[in-house]
Amino acid sequence: MIDKINALLQEVGNLRASNAEEIETLRIKYLSKKGEISSLMNDFRTVAADQKREVGQHLNKLKEAAQDKINELKAGFEQANTADADIDLTRTAYPIELGTRHPLSIVKKEICDIFGRLGFSIAEGPEIEDDWHVFSSLNFAEDHPARDMQDTFFIQHNPDVLLRTHTSSVQTRVMEKQEPPIRIICPGRVYRNEAISYRAHCFFHQVEALYIDKNVSFADLKQALLFFAKEMFSADTKIRLRPSYFPFTEPSAEMDISCNICGGKGCPFCKGTGWVEILGCGMVDPNVLENCGIDSKVYSGFALGMGIERITNLKYQVKDLRMFSENDIRFLKQFKSAN
Ligand code: DAH
Repeated sequence: MIDKINALLQEVGNLRASNAEEIETLRIKYLSKKGEISSLMNDFRTVAADQKREVGQHLNKLKEAAQDKINELKAGFEQANTADADIDLTRTAYPIELGTRHPLSIVKKEICDIFGRLGFSIAEGPEIEDDWHVFSSLNFAEDHPARDMQDTFFIQHNPDVLLRTHTSSVQTRVMEKQEPPIRIICPGRVYRNEAISYRAHCFFHQVEALYIDKNVSFADLKQALLFFAKEMFSADTKIRLRPSYFPFTEPSAEMDISCNICGGKGCPFCKGTGWVEILGCGMVDPNVLENCGIDSKVYSGFALGMGIERITNLKYQVKDLRMFSENDIRFLKQFKSAN
């Protein structure tokens, strides 16, 4: 009998099956009540008493081995089966390319990161605004042309519900809520009623920066601007400030950088001047501070604002603004970012 058990043991060890049905057939053959092992168990009764112990041990070993083998075949089969289920047979056969970040998002992140290194944190505000946050609090006179329908999109002809024309509105929202020191950078989309062409669009993107504290001076502004220009473009970038006018800053300035395309020698991009304008800035007008409940005798600050499209054009020389909103992937996939 021991020989028979050993022969079966070997047989069981070599079992193979290619599907669930075959496994079931094997289980019935060896392990069911009418199977080979049960019939050996029946024969066991007739084994002489002095051999019972040894034969019993062999029988148990065979039973265990058969059970293990069947389990093993089942597990292998299930694994192969789930692996099959993971394969999507309806998927197209060619490789799917990963998407890329939009060039404006790449540049926005870079601007925010640079100011982040100076301790500025990101603040955001609504795109649908009211007159107070976009104009009045920022010292715009009642008859300022920016309030005109021609520049501003009003919603449902209500002069108090409008699409923000600049991200400066976020300044006021933060100043109203937060005590100085305030050091924020506000990226976002803005809207202006412009005819769409290669150089203008009815929506575009800006980044605003605001720093309010005791003893903030124009020198602090200049230093922050120089740091930004060098980090954004290159270490040898130069800046120059020209006097300008904005209702919410006094004094106000516009900043040019040395043209990063010709290195300042003069080229068609900088119209031969060697300089390109990139942002507006100035010391926050005391009226604006007072409008937001900040004591202008104790605190002062600087603000600056720039168009993300403009900076992106300078970095990548995109000639037509409309490319940014057409979603042509042949254009978009040329821009790669590290993260
Ligand atoms: N809000 C201005 C614009 O849309 C940009 C700007 C200029 C923002 C000067 C500022 C600033 O904070 O100080 O053209």
